[in-house]
Amino acid sequence: MTSLTQYFEQHPKLPQTQAVIDVITTITNVGKQITDLLRQGALADIHGEAGAENVQGEQQKKLDVIANDLLLEALTANKHCAGVASEELDDATPANESGELLVLFDPLDGSSNIDINMPTGTIFSILPHNNKGQAAQNADFLQKGTEQLAAGYLLYGSSAMLAFTLSESLDANNEGVVMFSLNPSTGEFELVKNNITIDADTKEYAINASNARHWLPPMQQYINELLAGSTGPRGKNFNTRWVAAMVGDVHRILCRGGIFIYPKDTKDPNKAGKLRLMYEANPMSLLIERAGGASTDALNRIMDCEPTDIHQRVAVVLGAKNEVEYVQKLHQQA
Ligand code: AHG
Ligand code: MN
Ligand code: MN
Ligand code: MN
Repeated sequence: MTSLTQYFEQHPKLPQTQAVIDVITTITNVGKQITDLLRQGALADIHGEAGAENVQGEQQKKLDVIANDLLLEALTANKHCAGVASEELDDATPANESGELLVLFDPLDGSSNIDINMPTGTIFSILPHNNKGQAAQNADFLQKGTEQLAAGYLLYGSSAMLAFTLSESLDANNEGVVMFSLNPSTGEFELVKNNITIDADTKEYAINASNARHWLPPMQQYINELLAGSTGPRGKNFNTRWVAAMVGDVHRILCRGGIFIYPKDTKDPNKAGKLRLMYEANPMSLLIERAGGASTDALNRIMDCEPTDIHQRVAVVLGAKNEVEYVQKLHQQA
């Protein structure tokens, strides 16, 4: 068994990676605290509404706020962290002016699963702070996904897991996407897999089909083709899975392949999709691409999207490369 601490100690790394490792360690320590709270469930008074609305227009759950506060406190105390941005905070919070990193997070992904004891997660993205020496502001965070130094998630499922990847330029060992499992008796994350790869083809897809009537015609066509099964144009039967927590769906794709879609939706006033570019789509895109998959908004690569707002939303089509490219082809032809 290799613990996360041993993994970081044993693996040769570039000097600039140490700060990233320190930040990932801070996030995983908070992940252990969130795991503890979830294990206690109702006994820890973490269920139910917090009573406020976040900047996304969502009713915050108690655990959205608790997880956000824990991450905020731990990261602003990390000397490498120049500032944080979160799904649950209106604006970026400056931390240490001498810090070289910016940290973005979805503190609690899958909020509707909290009260029913279903999987949830934490998603993080680490960017360089290009105005080192100055307090981090919203504008500093507006960098493309391709600029990420690292990204990952914690999954709070029947066991707690951590998956992360360093950007290609920092990954001196060529380890790609690595996955750890929390050992409840030692409190250590232990390495379970590295160099995770996603098959280019799949028979499993994830989409919330209750929105079907609001999708654009090419997305409706795509799902209809999958539903037609072995006698339809795709010539095979497909299976649906929907965790209602993106972390859970992306984790399944890293484990056994598949495609995950949260499409553009005509009922949404900004017609951009539900998921957040900076806290959800970009970090998951880095993981998926590093594992050999693809991640687009149905037309363009997500990590090439030039952000204009820290809270902006984006359509997401990610996972098995051939399948994502097929969705792209249908949208290009439309
Ligand atoms: P969050 O709980 O951080 O707001 O994110 C929820 C997201 C994502 O995790 C999930 O895939 C999706 O919303 C579920 O949406 P539906 O409720 O529309 O199924
Ligand atoms: Mn939310
Ligand atoms: Mn989320
Ligand atoms: Mn969230």
